Amino acid sequence: MAKQGHNPVLCALDTQDPDEACALVQALGGRVGGVKLGLEFFSAAGRAGVEAVAAAGLPIFLDLKLHDIPNTVARAVAALVPLHPFMMTVHTAGGLAMMKAAVESARATADRLGISRPQMVGVTVLTSLDDKDLNDIGVNATPADQAARLAALALDAGLDGVVCSPHEVARLRKLAGPSFTLVVPGIRPAGTAPGDQKRVMTPAEALAAGASHLVIGRPITEAADPAAAAGAIAAELGAVPQAG
Ligand code: C5P
Repeated sequence: MAKQGHNPVLCALDTQDPDEACALVQALGGRVGGVKLGLEFFSAAGRAGVEAVAAAGLPIFLDLKLHDIPNTVARAVAALVPLHPFMMTVHTAGGLAMMKAAVESARATADRLGISRPQMVGVTVLTSLDDKDLNDIGVNATPADQAARLAALALDAGLDGVVCSPHEVARLRKLAGPSFTLVVPGIRPAGTAPGDQKRVMTPAEALAAGASHLVIGRPITEAADPAAAAGAIAAELGAVPQAG
């Protein structure tokens, strides 16, 4: 069950076309808690695209997975905070100093603008990497153990949370405590196609395991009626069907 008044669903708008993204946001009305815009959208549509989608009326999760030296990431964060995302991502593999610099830059920039700072969330191990891929880059740990290690580092750095797969969420909730944000993709409502997602959970299962936000793309965006699909998920979760 979702917290009262909180819709945990973030709809992934995996498109390059701002008009398509805005039309979908309008169609969804208040049936999701926000939308996720990623590297593909930002590379194609830029700041103007993000501003157009934000103007369509839902909170923005800007998932650009920043990863560079601390000074460069801090400056990139300072350039992005004025777009008012409620959440954004950095790679935890950038290290403790980079994550601290990102949080500090978000706080300082938001203070200067008089707005609330975005939640800063860390990407741990990309789920496209398996044991062998990690080994190839010199990491002698399983993806699950490496994700737990990086989540602990994110917590130390003062990040607000991490992105994790459904099969890691229970372990990370135990490790990081109740107030850490856990953003979980790989969600499939019962009865929908898994597509290329291999290990999936239903929205209710992921929330029960400790997720705070659920990233859901194609089960909503490719549904015959996206608003109805999003509404059904919100109803299943007991979420109030409005943004927030
Ligand atoms: O359409 P679908 O629900 O699979 O979309 C999930 C979204 O979450 C996409 O934007 C995808 O890139 C992202 N994602 C994911 N799995 C991860 C990390 C991110 O599916 N492990």
